Amino acid sequence: MAAKDVSGAGELVEQPSGHGVEHVAIIMDGNGRWAKLRGWPRLVGHRRGAERVRQIVRACPDLGVRWLTLYAFSTENWKRSTEEVIGLMGMFGRYIQSEADRLSAEGVRVRFIGGRERLEPRLQALMAGIEARTAGNSRLNLTVAINYGGRDELVRAARRLAEDVAAGRIAPAQVEEAAISARLDTADLPDPDLIIRTSGEARTSNFLPWQAAYAEYEFSPTLWPDFTAAEMAAILARFSSRERRYGGVVKA
Ligand code: IPE
Ligand code: IPE
Ligand code: MG
Repeated sequence: MAAKDVSGAGELVEQPSGHGVEHVAIIMDGNGRWAKLRGWPRLVGHRRGAERVRQIVRACPDLGVRWLTLYAFSTENWKRSTEEVIGLMGMFGRYIQSEADRLSAEGVRVRFIGGRERLEPRLQALMAGIEARTAGNSRLNLTVAINYGGRDELVRAARRLAEDVAAGRIAPAQVEEAAISARLDTADLPDPDLIIRTSGEARTSNFLPWQAAYAEYEFSPTLWPDFTAAEMAAILARFSSRERRYGGVVKA
């Protein structure tokens, strides 16, 4: 393994190789607690969290990860204070604007998953804009989940299937796993191999329930604003020793 500054943050990271992880999905949790520990407003934690996103995105190609999916805002996060929700939505827009040049120059293809209709039209336009601008890139596939909930995604997919059946486009007998997968927001994504949740919580909070059927999970005690490329590299290195059986039996 070679040591390299992969995140641009001045930290030397051992680059894992041959870990076999194509797609990493991260539940970026702990921004609020990170700020609270310092007596700062929650939004300061979210801002630090956004800086982490920048570093982790940048590190992925060198860490051998081609697909990265980030849980930024859940369908349940609307329950938070108006101040926090508006602050987060503003941050998403500013992040897209400030990162667009760099992401497209670095070969990152950006996609979003989640229901868009509830988002401000201005944010929706920024999202569509960066998706179109980076559609030809493939060095890293970055998917950001905003107003995403796994149950909501399945409900929307079921509705589309029902419409297709009612219109006679497909027969009920053709409703198979592939027909459902193709109608999810993640239709163009491979299933995640590894899901990391930071902040010590061991739950999935409505993140990719269908897609994660055979994902491996890692629960890190680190609060998201403290999560580093070095920790991600260590998690990836550990992944290679896991035995994925998919319900089968591995021959001795
Ligand atoms: C994760 O951090 C970011 C979002 C859910 C938007 P939290 O805001 O959930 O932080 P904690 O869990 O309160 O510490
Ligand atoms: C999950 O974190 C959602 C995101 C990281 C965007 P939450 O902080 O919302 O999850 P709970 O409430 O602890 O389950
Ligand atoms: Mg949380």
